[in-house]
Formats: sequence, C-alpha cells, structure tokens
Amino acid sequence: MEQSSVARLEEREFRKLSQFIEREVGIKMPPAKKILLESRLQKRLRIHSHRDFREYCDFLFEQNDRQELVEMIDAITTNKTDFMREPAHFDFLVEKALPDVVRGKGHINLWSAACSTGQEPYNLAMFMEEFRERASSCVEYSIRATDISKSCLQKGRNALYSLKDIEDVNLEFKKKYFLKSRDPKSDQVKIKSHIRSRVNFQSINLMKDDYGLKETYDIVFCRNVLIYFDRKNQHEVIGRISSHMNLGAYLFLGHSESMAGMNSGLTSVASSIYKKT
Ligand SMILES: C[S@@+](CC[C@H](N)C(=O)[O-])C[C@H]1O[C@@H](n2cnc3c(N)ncnc32)[C@H](O)[C@@H]1O
Repeated sequence: MEQSSVARLEEREFRKLSQFIEREVGIKMPPAKKILLESRLQKRLRIHSHRDFREYCDFLFEQNDRQELVEMIDAITTNKTDFMREPAHFDFLVEKALPDVVRGKGHINLWSAACSTGQEPYNLAMFMEEFRERASSCVEYSIRATDISKSCLQKGRNALYSLKDIEDVNLEFKKKYFLKSRDPKSDQVKIKSHIRSRVNFQSINLMKDDYGLKETYDIVFCRNVLIYFDRKNQHEVIGRISSHMNLGAYLFLGHSESMAGMNSGLTSVASSIYKKT
C-alpha cells in the first residue's frame, strides 16, 4: 500500500474482523461501523506494509499474530476520558458511598474497570484523600485500574498529563495532587507519588470468564464501556463484576448506561449507581 492511499475494507474482511472484535472484545460492530473500522486500522496496515485488508486479515488470523491482535485492539477501542468526568458520581462517592462502605473497616478496595489512560482511578484516589481528610478517617485503600488497551495502561502508569488534560480540575486539587515540571516551557504535569502509589494498573478484558482477581471490591467504577456492548454481553459483564463485589458495595456506571430490566442482584440507589444488597 502506498503511504497516501487508503485501503478499502471489503465486506468479507469486515465480517471477519467485526465478528472477531465482537466475540473477543465485546464491542458491537454493526455495518454502520465499517468506515470507522477501516479508518482506525489504516495505520496497522501501513506499519506492516500490507497492501490491503485481505493481506492484513491473513496475517492476523491465519498466522495468529498475538502481538498484532493486541495492537489491533488498541487501535479500535475508544479511549475518551477526562479528569472530573461526570462529577456527580464523585459527590455521591464522598457523601454517601464511602461513609457507608468504610464503616468498621480498616482497608477498602476500589476498582476502576475500563480505566482508559488513568484519569478515573487517579481521581478516585484524590477523592479518597478528600474523604479521609473531611471525615478524619484513617481508612487505608488500594485502587485497581484495569483496561484491555495496552497503550492506555502504559499511559496510566506513566501518570503524565498535559495542562489541557487538567483544565477541569480545580485549583486546590491541582496544587494538592499534581506536580509541575521543573522545565517552565513544559506543558506536562505528573500525578504526585502518594496518589500514584495507591493505583495498580493491570490488563483485564471484561469479556473473559476469569478476571484473575484475588480481592473483592467495595467501590467499582465501570463507566462508559458497557455502552459499546450488546445487551447479552452487558448482562454477563455486570454479573462477573458483581461476583467480585462485597455485599454492600457500590457500582457506578456511565450516565448513559443503565441496568434497567437486568436481573443482576444490584439495586439502583441513584442515577447510574447501584448497590449490592
Ligand atoms: C470511553 S473509555 C472510558 C474510560 C473511563 N471509564 C471513563 O468513563 O472516562 C472506554 C474504555 O473501555 C476499554 N474497553 C473496551 N472494551 C473493553 C473490554 N472488553 N475489556 C476491558 N476494557 C475495555 C477501552 O480500551 C477504553 O479505554
């Protein structure tokens, strides 16, 4: 394929790729997403100098190139995230959920499932610090941050963000939880080490039967990922997540996601927030 030319994704290859993506990653791939898939995978074809999608699919599926499967998944996932995204969730967390789950406990576990590039789990650590300060609580905590995307997890581990990324963070939080670069020209900030050390990143595909998690959780954020899955996969993922939650634990979904009509053993306690009862 020439550098500037665009490889067309034909029906046959689209079917192969979309079926694989739906089965392995859970992301729905109806025909309307053909153009999106075509454009997101152009770079992968270029990197391997494949002339067309047929060659790329042979390489991917027939040679079963595991490394390329990981890169392909990276290329097709939507990783949009922000600090302070859906802030009402953090208010509920500090005012209602934490006072409830912390009662009588010395340590709690939090999980940001589908954490993208780390803003959500670091935000959770910041609000845990706020809660401990406000409630004069000594409760300890650990945060597991998981995603399927290798490059997102790496970015999360690096904990480096741009000044633009922290636009919506208030000044007090900026001072307390972010370090400015010593280079005055740099536009990068780093999460402070006392926050970084609370968050452990790990690769987990929510579609797999076994997440390999040893601990159970008191607070789970699984926001803005179920929206990409069909109803059956949503139901199964919620069931698996719920099996890793303690009784009384809270699950936060994205504002546009709902478990209405699902028999999950979780009770709705506020908009897009559920409790294991
Ligand atoms: C739109 S981001 C949401 C990030 C964050 N939770 C938020 O609300 O800001 C969706 C994330 O889900 C991840 N994802 C998609 N399919 C997944 C799967 N099967 N298992 C785990 N993560 C997945 C993507 O890699 C992406 O980082």
